[in-house]
Amino acid sequence: MARVLIVGCGYVGGALATRLLTEGHEVFGLRRDPSALPPGVVGLAGDVSEVEGVGALPGALDSVVYAVGAKQRDEASYRAAYLDGLGHVIRALTEEGQDPSRILFTSSTSVYGQSRGEWVDESSPTHPRSFAGEIMLSAERLLHGSRFPSTVLRLGGIYGPGRTRLIDRVRAGEAVAVAETATYTNRIHRDDAAAAIAHLLTLPDPKATYVGVDEDPADAAEVLAWIAERLGVALVETPASESLPVGSRRCRNAALLDSGFCFDYPTYREGYAALMEAAAAESV
Ligand SMILES: NC(=O)c1ccc[n+]([C@@H]2O[C@H](COP(=O)([O-])OP(=O)(O)OC[C@H]3O[C@@H](n4cnc5c(N)ncnc54)[C@H](OP(=O)(O)O)[C@@H]3O)[C@@H](O)[C@H]2O)c1
Repeated sequence: MARVLIVGCGYVGGALATRLLTEGHEVFGLRRDPSALPPGVVGLAGDVSEVEGVGALPGALDSVVYAVGAKQRDEASYRAAYLDGLGHVIRALTEEGQDPSRILFTSSTSVYGQSRGEWVDESSPTHPRSFAGEIMLSAERLLHGSRFPSTVLRLGGIYGPGRTRLIDRVRAGEAVAVAETATYTNRIHRDDAAAAIAHLLTLPDPKATYVGVDEDPADAAEVLAWIAERLGVALVETPASESLPVGSRRCRNAALLDSGFCFDYPTYREGYAALMEAAAAESV
């Protein structure tokens, strides 16, 4: 049994906590509002963005997962959540003389700047095109530069129970498929993200960085068309010239697969089908 601290025990962190508890581990969850933690998790209240916000941590931690999510998409919120927060947790662990075998940080594929459909993996250049990607990359470097063994998992867009925006937009007739240009999108189901973190924590000698996306960096239009067909609704198509430019890259997850990880939802089709079936069952 391991003692695992999940800092930012929210959407992914909560699913990870439940999984680790099922496997028999002792799980501590830190967030500002610990009343929202899953049952069985030992709650810790704290605001990691504050200098003194971390407080005393449980002793003899075996692993730490940093999965804090910024509440707003602005530079100050990102700095507070990812750079300040991670720095404060590293400092607290250092000052307490803790010796976890690993700290894992849930980073983002936004660290890649490629936007013309290129394939990228852990060895690809990282030239972010947004403040979000810049800050994630700085947080990765902060962690890798610390005294602790560290792993970074660069997640794609997370979807799953309660995060069904794409399905909801198609159902509401608000989703617009862009004709002519392929816009590749990278995603991962929440439960696969949690399972991948749990898996990486068990590896004796993991790589420093993994790309955490499913096996199909599908064209956005293809995904929308598939959802629309399953729902039996029509999609509006707009010419590429009238669409907003968006980043487009294909993230390769070969390193995660080579490490022995298996996806429950290898593509958007399995993931979205499960969500639609759950919604249909609920409405009966
Ligand atoms: N969502 C995506 O599509 C996506 C894509 C790529 C990478 N990621 C990364 O994956 C990770 C997990 O994402 P998620 O969707 O699970 O995140 P989330 O649920 O939005 O946030 C995780 C938790 O962080 C806590 N938190 C936020 N600010 C905090 C603070 N200052 N001090 C302590 N706790 C704080 C929140 O709880 P309280 O509000 O109670 O504090 C929340 O429960 C994040 O690092 C995110 O950046 C997400």
